[in-house]
Amino acid sequence: MRIGILTVSDRSSRGERPDESGPLIAAFVAERLASDVAKSAIVPDEIGAISLVLRAWADADDLDVVFTTGGTGFAPRDVTPEATRAVITREAPGLAEAMRAASLAVTPHAMLSRAVCGIRGRTLIINLPGSPKAVRENLATLLPVLPHAVQLLRDAPSAEAGHRAA
Ligand code: MTE
Repeated sequence: MRIGILTVSDRSSRGERPDESGPLIAAFVAERLASDVAKSAIVPDEIGAISLVLRAWADADDLDVVFTTGGTGFAPRDVTPEATRAVITREAPGLAEAMRAASLAVTPHAMLSRAVCGIRGRTLIINLPGSPKAVRENLATLLPVLPHAVQLLRDAPSAEAGHRAA
């Protein structure tokens, strides 16, 4: 799997706060998906900056999955969902619903996540919240379906087996 990690944070993009969630996702990808991180970046909470990277990674770099982290809440500068909607052509609401449902068992604050998931070309884009704790919890929810999701996006013949396994 070719993975991208986009950290969305004004402060981290200015070097004022270390990015903890990006490296956490990278460790998860290595350990649980046996995949490398092909691309990673940190951008400020700006729709233009976020969508520019998402488009490039999907169109030119042909990544399988791009995780964003941060900017999904209610603060005025939380615009990651809007930037994601601007670039996806097909929404994958089940993934975002599953993350919110599982997270609600942990904290009512899960209701404050406006995360969007969707597809551009053959790339699945997944909004994760910003805090390392939330990233850990949401990745654990998604893990069981990610390999099959990527198989389907590649239109791999072996994807049929995934249906049966589920
Ligand atoms: N999901 C899980 N599993 N665990 C959490 O602690 N925090 C929530 C929510 N989702 C949380 C969670 C909080 S406090 C917010 S404000 C939203 O995600 C959005 O987070 P973000 O603005 O950092 O993207």
